Amino acid sequence: MWWTGAVFYEVYVRSFADHDGNGIGDLRGITDRLPYLAELGVDAVWLTPFYRSPMADHGYDVADPRAVDPLFGDLAAFDALLARAHGLGLRVTVDLVPNHTSDQHEWFRAARGAEPGDPERSRYIFRGGRGPDGVEPPNNWPSVFGGPAWTRLPDGQWYLHLFASEQPDLNWSHPEVAADLDTTMRFWLDRGVDGFRIDVAHGMAKPAGLPDLSPDALHGLHSMSDSNDPRFDNDGVHEVHRGVRRTLDAYPEVMAVGEIWVGDDERVARYVRPDELHLAFNFRLLESPWNAEELRTAVDRSLRSIAGTGTPACWVLSNHDRPRHVTRYGGGKVGLCRARAAALLQLALPGVAYVYNGDELGLPDVDLPDEALQDPIWERSGHRERGRDGSRVPLPWAGDEPPYDFSPGASSWLPAPEGWAGLTAAAQGDDPCSILNLYRHALRIRRTWRGRSAMAPEASLTWLELPRDALGFVREDGLVCVLNAGTEPIVLPPGDLLLASGPLTSLTTSADSGGLALPPDTAAWLAST
Ligand code: BGC
Repeated sequence: MWWTGAVFYEVYVRSFADHDGNGIGDLRGITDRLPYLAELGVDAVWLTPFYRSPMADHGYDVADPRAVDPLFGDLAAFDALLARAHGLGLRVTVDLVPNHTSDQHEWFRAARGAEPGDPERSRYIFRGGRGPDGVEPPNNWPSVFGGPAWTRLPDGQWYLHLFASEQPDLNWSHPEVAADLDTTMRFWLDRGVDGFRIDVAHGMAKPAGLPDLSPDALHGLHSMSDSNDPRFDNDGVHEVHRGVRRTLDAYPEVMAVGEIWVGDDERVARYVRPDELHLAFNFRLLESPWNAEELRTAVDRSLRSIAGTGTPACWVLSNHDRPRHVTRYGGGKVGLCRARAAALLQLALPGVAYVYNGDELGLPDVDLPDEALQDPIWERSGHRERGRDGSRVPLPWAGDEPPYDFSPGASSWLPAPEGWAGLTAAAQGDDPCSILNLYRHALRIRRTWRGRSAMAPEASLTWLELPRDALGFVREDGLVCVLNAGTEPIVLPPGDLLLASGPLTSLTTSADSGGLALPPDTAAWLAST
């Protein structure tokens, strides 16, 4: 299948490219830049939600999943994007948000206007409160974004929202909910999309009776990546995915990847059973610090979680919900060197890779001033958590001043910082040593490296014996990847050098004076001899 071994590129629609000049990315902006993605060498794009939305969570609060929000364009603009992408050989996948809707969705507006107990409310999770007159929420659940997970309507009933109060959770035992998702999928599949990314794919089934979280579970619960959160990964969620798969199976060559934050490797595997999803994001790499042993463990665990499933692993270094890896790895020059090395690690691992827009430019997070912050987390956490805006700053395309050709207008929805002139796609395109050209080169090698069979699902790797602070492996097809996360250079294993993330040094102390050493924070690919 086309996605086995594919490299997907996540387009965070608001931040990729603005065509109409209002400072917010849009579909025409994406279409304009598709040749850049084709030249980069990715196989597919994933577009974050561009559906009609009041934008309380920047589109993850969907008011109509079968309409384009005017902020981003219209259906004609979407069709043009799809046609252009297909013309360039790029597949297009789009987001599905089945866990919740916007509070402006027609279903929720009807629910809000109805009486307690009215069937209009049964597509959501409404409950009476606790305590005198029900003034306390029905249980002690916090929202993933901070504050309580319940909001009370003037008539006294409470509704559940695991995210913002503008994102009421759907009741998946209501038959219309599943039927509507099917309609939405068919709507986009009939237009020609190649697949879906499923938001909060481990969240739709809530624990029976909505019990209070134990003090232990509550303690330190900050995000849905907390593996022990009993509100996620309940068994009932698999019925939802079986339904998704039934719909997909009616179309040729389409796929779905689930956003699954699950700690237990064996439980991750359940999402990719033959009648469920084709891929499950694996976030272990994204969660691993810059440390050889932890990176190796992340790889081992990821491979273990798909072993025997017949599906490829799915590697992620960054996305729109987490700080960018340049910043996670220390920022500045060091962060960038490590990000370059990490790119070679990610792209050498057997399976599928997801590149987040801006990874290929080596973008760091931006320290935004308080008044610029827009993520609902900032307000809901009472300004204790700054949220995810730092990794969502619009892409710098060209020029010396913000917004760096992101928009024909003078500004962008999140301000790009001064000092990014050297990071623009145009500047890096001209620099053979840039991270952009490293990605292009790596993707070219990946594509051609002994054919796609190299990326067969579950292709295995063998770890090499290396110093403790380094990791390296050889794949079945002979590609060797070595990464030095330590502070001393290491001797490169034998093989023909294909690509390095930074300059290599000569082995002056070795008997083999012609040999090469891999400096700290550097990775290399070799062809085994
Ligand atoms: C998306 C987030 C979003 C949340 C609620 C996540 O998994 O990636 O950006 O805020 O779901 O829809």
